[in-house]
Amino acid sequence: MITTTGLTKVYQSRGREVTALDGVDLHVREGEVFGVIGQSGAGKSSLIRCVNLLERPTTGTVTVDGVDLTALAGRGNRAGRELREARSRIGMVFQHFNLLSSRTVQGNIELPLEILGVSGRERSRKALELLDLVGLADKAKSYPGQLSGGQKQRVGIARALAGDPKVLLSDEATSALDPETTRSILQLLRDLNRQLGLTVLLITHEMDVVKTVCDSAALMRRGRVVETGTVGELLATPGSELAAELFPVTGQATGPRRTVVDVTFHGEAATRPVISQLSRTYNIDISILGAAMDTVGGKQIGRMRIELPGQYEENVVPVGFLREQGLQVDVVDDEDAPLDTQDPTPALVKETAK
Ligand SMILES: Nc1ncnc2c1ncn2[C@@H]1O[C@H](COP(=O)(O)OP(=O)(O)O)[C@@H](O)[C@H]1O
Ligand SMILES: [Mg+2]
Repeated sequence: MITTTGLTKVYQSRGREVTALDGVDLHVREGEVFGVIGQSGAGKSSLIRCVNLLERPTTGTVTVDGVDLTALAGRGNRAGRELREARSRIGMVFQHFNLLSSRTVQGNIELPLEILGVSGRERSRKALELLDLVGLADKAKSYPGQLSGGQKQRVGIARALAGDPKVLLSDEATSALDPETTRSILQLLRDLNRQLGLTVLLITHEMDVVKTVCDSAALMRRGRVVETGTVGELLATPGSELAAELFPVTGQATGPRRTVVDVTFHGEAATRPVISQLSRTYNIDISILGAAMDTVGGKQIGRMRIELPGQYEENVVPVGFLREQGLQVDVVDDEDAPLDTQDPTPALVKETAK
């Protein structure tokens, strides 16, 4: 639904060049919620602003719903209208809501419809329908100043939906909100994604956000996408930084002559009681040192760090058993364990948390 190829963005700032995007190939499938994660300055906002051509990419192409927006933007005045039309099919939600304080809630939602030339009666009908959809049916005549942050963002989302977009872009839409409101807004985005078949591209620096609402995610660093995939694919990728941040496990051997392994659960194997089978089959006691599991679509996914008695050489068969069950098993070196336990905060979370 959204594809960027070789996208670069170089800003000219006081005679200097700043490369914000450095060859980004992004692919967001129709109907998914896709999260972009990265530290401040990684290029996330530049990416989302290039996707709807609010920002003109320096090189590369952006295709949304089969339309090459970069080609439209390059062709003078008449094409300007084509681009505006294509853009009206892309909703945008902002961190600071960007509502007009002089207009009522309904007036704010009608604004993009006025620009599209929709008649007064139709605008009003549409605005009220959208307000109902975001759970604010009783606030049509209120002014933004009379609303809470979460309610303002609901208005922002309703306004973004005014042009019946197929794609919704959201740049840190919840970072000005408290955790509970954040959850309710994310749930709303998830519901809209399901109800309307809306494709959602959202930027966040909260890992929890990704875990609760995203089907896929990408990690950006210095203008590049360094990891991308569905949450399951990321989990299945050995050494994936995103998976480690999403499902952090810690825990150290409880003594000498123990084998510590990380078991990753995703896909079919995650539905079977493999740990108890392992214990019964080989008559061994297994300690769970740490786990980060979540239920996604009725299936358990995540990672668990377990300890088996005896050194690795003695556990080759049990480890083989786990692998045969289709699980990914990574043996934790002695050197890794102390590092993990010294500081359980994942590096990315630490650097992005304010
Ligand atoms: N309009 C601009 N002019 C010059 N430099 C910019 C502009 N917008 C962003 N940048 C720079 O581009 C880089 C990426 O910024 P941004 O896309 O906002 O990252 P993020 O959203 O991940 O924090 C940063 O180094 C930032 O300073
Ligand atoms: Mg940003």
